Amino acid sequence: MAGVTMAAGCGVSQALSAGASHEGLRRIAPAFGTVVVPIPSRCKVSRRVKVEAIAEPIAKSTVRTIEECEADVVAGNAPAAPPVPAKPKAPEGTPRISPLVMPARPRRNRRSAALRAAFQETTVSPANFILPLFVHEGEQNAPIGAMPGCQRLGWRHGLIDEVYKARDVGVNNVVLFPKVPDALKSSTGDEAYNPDGLVPRCIRLLKDKFPDLVIYTDVALDPYSSDGHDGIVREDGVIMNDETVHQLCKQAVAQAQAGADVVSPSDMMDGRVGAIRNALDLAGYHDVSIMAYTAKYASAFYGPFREALDSNPRFGDKKTYQMNPANYREALIETRLDEAEGADILMVKPAMPYLDVIRLLRDNTALPISAYQVSGEYSMIKAAAAAGMLDEKKAVLESLLSIRRAGADVILTYFAIPAAQWLCAERI
Ligand code: PBG
Repeated sequence: MAGVTMAAGCGVSQALSAGASHEGLRRIAPAFGTVVVPIPSRCKVSRRVKVEAIAEPIAKSTVRTIEECEADVVAGNAPAAPPVPAKPKAPEGTPRISPLVMPARPRRNRRSAALRAAFQETTVSPANFILPLFVHEGEQNAPIGAMPGCQRLGWRHGLIDEVYKARDVGVNNVVLFPKVPDALKSSTGDEAYNPDGLVPRCIRLLKDKFPDLVIYTDVALDPYSSDGHDGIVREDGVIMNDETVHQLCKQAVAQAQAGADVVSPSDMMDGRVGAIRNALDLAGYHDVSIMAYTAKYASAFYGPFREALDSNPRFGDKKTYQMNPANYREALIETRLDEAEGADILMVKPAMPYLDVIRLLRDNTALPISAYQVSGEYSMIKAAAAAGMLDEKKAVLESLLSIRRAGADVILTYFAIPAAQWLCAERI
């Protein structure tokens, strides 16, 4: 049936109350036709509204009173109404049985789209997403082999374009990850707190273009460490805790000074949340929040990220600071510490293989929970979709919904832009 385009925000009822006659509307909107109403928001999609048949207009001269209508019904002359629909036929050969006697049939609440929508317990919105962005010093964007669809963004142009695209679909939170030139890496990672380093420059540029953008930063030494570790490595391979925390405090303050809204320590050193809170407050940044990577596991799913930043540990692994994937209770120890030290948001990372841990934190703190759908989770879905094994859109939206259902408020996801586009198109 022919579609009719109406002015933004103009529905049939508004058109009627604005004085359009039923007849007039019938001419433009065929019964059961489709009216395309562009949504006057950032979402670049049209809203499709099914228009029900409009009741026959009644000529003024033949209008009867309520009393007359009721008298007819009382007298047994009920007016005609459509018949009860015929029972739909089952296919030939369907066994003839007597229905099972059951106290409850849960399928009743799932039998139509409207009922399913009414009883939906969890929703996902672009407002829940934090988009991780890889930035580098180059002029042009460079593809990341292990993460198809993601790029290292040129900080001056590519970054701005990507943030523009994100905001266009309602994603207004980003977190920055820098690819630092090898020549600036050192064993103590001092470039991490250079006020003119790549991250502070990106923050200043973004705040200049998009003052209300929420900027999260990563606090850890690995992109700046010649050893590829999140902390300072002693001669015997031990990652030095308190000395690293000293550096992280300087890094967090440099990021806050540049305009970061939320600093996110991902290093897993002990005591860093309290120390960073203290350093921020002393420097006057009482309003800068801390999103603590509370339960960050030593996971194989970070592989593609380390390729993106060229930040693979030069030796060993991160098991002396990141958590053992076998451990559940231990996440509670980290939760209590981060909460006591003044974290504003607690994170679980990775997300999908650790949904139980997300739920554990959700049930044990009143703070907001974030979950990081990490690079490996992204690349798995991308690879399966590219091989024709999964429907990308359905798998992505289901994964994000599941992370929310487990108890996450916000999700760091490389799918933030496409997922927000799909959600905008669906919310119709
Ligand atoms: C490093 C850091 C890592 C990630 C975020 N911050 C990698 C690591 O701990 O080795 C991983 C993110 C991802 O895989 O998407 N501090």
